[in-house]
Amino acid sequence: MTTTPETAARTAGSSARSGTEIRLDHVTKDFGLAHPAVDDISLTIQPGEFMTLLGPSGSGKTTTLNLIAGFETLTVGTISLNGTDVSDVPPHRRNLGMLFQNYALFPHLTVAQNVAYPLRERKMPKQEIARKVAEVLELVQLTGRDDHHPSQLSGGQQQRVALARAIVFEPRALLLDEPLGALDRNLRSALQAEIRRIHREVGSTFVFVTHDQEEAMNLSDRIALFNNGRIEQVGTPQQLYASPETLFTARFLGDSNVFELGQGAPGGSVVWDGETWGIDPATVSPHPGVRANSAIVVRPEDVEVAAGRDEVPSGANAVRATVRDVEYMGSYRTLLLSMGERGLPGRTRVSPLRGDYAIGDRIVVWWRPASQRIVAA
Ligand SMILES: Nc1ncnc2c1ncn2[C@@H]1O[C@H](COP(=O)(O)OP(=O)(O)OP(=O)(O)O)[C@@H](O)[C@H]1O
Ligand SMILES: [Mg+2]
Repeated sequence: MTTTPETAARTAGSSARSGTEIRLDHVTKDFGLAHPAVDDISLTIQPGEFMTLLGPSGSGKTTTLNLIAGFETLTVGTISLNGTDVSDVPPHRRNLGMLFQNYALFPHLTVAQNVAYPLRERKMPKQEIARKVAEVLELVQLTGRDDHHPSQLSGGQQQRVALARAIVFEPRALLLDEPLGALDRNLRSALQAEIRRIHREVGSTFVFVTHDQEEAMNLSDRIALFNNGRIEQVGTPQQLYASPETLFTARFLGDSNVFELGQGAPGGSVVWDGETWGIDPATVSPHPGVRANSAIVVRPEDVEVAAGRDEVPSGANAVRATVRDVEYMGSYRTLLLSMGERGLPGRTRVSPLRGDYAIGDRIVVWWRPASQRIVAA
């Protein structure tokens, strides 16, 4: 029988396609350290969603994934799959697929035998195993490699075998912990595209852990950003980038210009380094921390350059700046700046059509109040 990737996906994902909702309610994991590894997080992952757990090293991503898998026990809280509490269900009975950074294939087994392993464990009839293995190898584009041993494959191919093995038994969801972490940059982006395609074709829920913000932005339907055992913000990549609620989120995703405002809620305007700036109420994050300590965040692409104050449109917020360096990025240039009297580091993007800038140039930079964000600092 011949299978296209599409029919392979339909079969491989036939039960998963309905999708599994994963729900974490007030989940805490305390290893008895100074601070819980996971600290009262609640998160609902939608059926079929690609959810990424993103955050710095030690922020609790792997621990959360292990709690979902059942490899760690909860200190507090519940985890449910499609509304059924599985907090006390052992890992093998949760029926979840797992993929790690180190592919952990059996070196003495062939590709086909490695992929067949979870089906043998489930005592599936031989013929059905052969059919499923062929389909899933097609899905990960390794047809014809059935009889190779892992040592005969590249790192990227080995990781595809591991991926095939993780989805061949039609798990309720796939949990991936930095699966591309060991691969070089080019291979990494090729496999990102593969994982995105396979997610689309299989249609099951994926929970993907990474500390790489670019990878998270590329792959995810939504991102849960972890900070010190807590979830800082959850949203689409676009929401997190365009509407960060805290300085942590703004700094973790992309570049930003940050003006710290100190204590107090921002009113209709604020003063920073002698400059008076307008505030658009729609850009003030609802985060409760904004009332205690806030900052203005402006993305480099929203900052415009003027030769002097007279060129700044009315209603814009402006500050004088000195060009510290110019980075050539191909389609645009980045000016590295020091801004205001205190020389705050900043950056802006300019098109190559917009004249030449040299180190030491004194300029004025400006942006619209609507394109800044007031976040909790
Ligand atoms: N089995 C364990 N025993 C004790 N402490 C642990 C254990 N596992 C994790 N921790 C601690 O829990 C915290 C969170 O660890 P975790 O592995 O979840 O972080 P992570 O976000 O996955 O980090 P990384 O990006 O480095 O993989 C860390 O402080 C870690 O030292
Ligand atoms: Mg980890």
